[in-house]
Amino acid sequence: MFTHIDYYAGDPILGLMDKFVSDNNPHKVNLGIGIYYDEVGELPVLECVKTAERLIANPITPRPYLPMAGLLGHRVACQNLLFGAGSQVLQEDRVATIATLGGSGALKVGAEFIHQFFPQSKCYVSDPTWSNHIAIFEGCDIEVGSYPYYDNATSRLKFDEMLSFIKQLNKNDVVLLHPCCHNPTGVDLTPEQWDQVLKVMKQQQLIAFMDIAYQGFGEDMAQDAYAIRQAVAIGLPVFVSNSFSKNLSLYGERVGGLSVVCPTSDEAKRVFGQLNYTVRRIYTCPPSHGGHVVDIVMNDEELHQHWVNEVYAMRDRIKAMRLKLKSVLQTKLPERNFDYLTEQKGMFSFTGLTPKQIERLQSEYGVYLVSNSRMCMAGLNVSNVDYVAEAMARVLED
Ligand code: LMR
Repeated sequence: MFTHIDYYAGDPILGLMDKFVSDNNPHKVNLGIGIYYDEVGELPVLECVKTAERLIANPITPRPYLPMAGLLGHRVACQNLLFGAGSQVLQEDRVATIATLGGSGALKVGAEFIHQFFPQSKCYVSDPTWSNHIAIFEGCDIEVGSYPYYDNATSRLKFDEMLSFIKQLNKNDVVLLHPCCHNPTGVDLTPEQWDQVLKVMKQQQLIAFMDIAYQGFGEDMAQDAYAIRQAVAIGLPVFVSNSFSKNLSLYGERVGGLSVVCPTSDEAKRVFGQLNYTVRRIYTCPPSHGGHVVDIVMNDEELHQHWVNEVYAMRDRIKAMRLKLKSVLQTKLPERNFDYLTEQKGMFSFTGLTPKQIERLQSEYGVYLVSNSRMCMAGLNVSNVDYVAEAMARVLED
């Protein structure tokens, strides 16, 4: 009956986690999956989340179904964060937002919607991108191509190639963009480069799909949303998938959002209705716990500020680790240039290590990187950074 079904090779990122857990090396370091670990290597529970959890637990309340679109407070929180509280587009009621099961859930619902209402559209992702982008869009029967992005030779952006490529796309094609902290390279566009890309997209009548999973880990909350707000300002149709996995450290709760910016409030109502229907056909409604945490933390002025400070503390610790790793490597291998480590932003750096070097890091040192050479800087801490630098230097030397 099931013999025609192929074995699943496993996910290139999630699969690494299992391998890491079963590794007996006492010095092992997990720099694979995009998870922020604190300075002692623990997954943190943010203080603002602890406060929200106490409020949710006392008293323990019934658990009805949520609306298909999730809690209003969760949706409003997404909108304020992405577009700016009180922004014109929100005042004009032109954004259809639903709460989703993390960023992946937002991408899935958005891709289903695009497949249904823009069946001719192809989707273009950066080369390289997060592997699940391709899987999700292809899983919705959308043809996926890629646009030039990262230059292996210089560890920088191939900006001119990217722009020329986008210039020749067809009306209603979707361009999937990372507004900040590009996954997997950590290489972002400057505001001026965003202006140029978005202008070309507007001229070509393209659709922007902005996937923002690391807001606050790059520059700050507003600056990290620059591309989104600028796209809105020039009247580009925009889909935004956002995730609270990293910036609320709520990975397992699956909390995110999907927002579609429309030209008019009537269109936003139509889109909102169809997004609800898409959700109904896949999972009916989101679970409630994470949504309540988001609602409480984001919509209380004091807790919100507390949260922002906690995110910036995570951001700053990652930056400090970038600096430290770079300086140790630079001392060990002075003939090589490690500037990319501090130029790249967010959780990830693209190290350019070869598959063989990555294999050696894993088998000889218990240091885990994704096979495309992505390193999660948020797994480094003062106790393991020297060890990781030493291991990297050894495999780079041979
Ligand atoms: C990552 O890129 O490591 C994270 O976004 C986790 C995931 O789902 O792949």
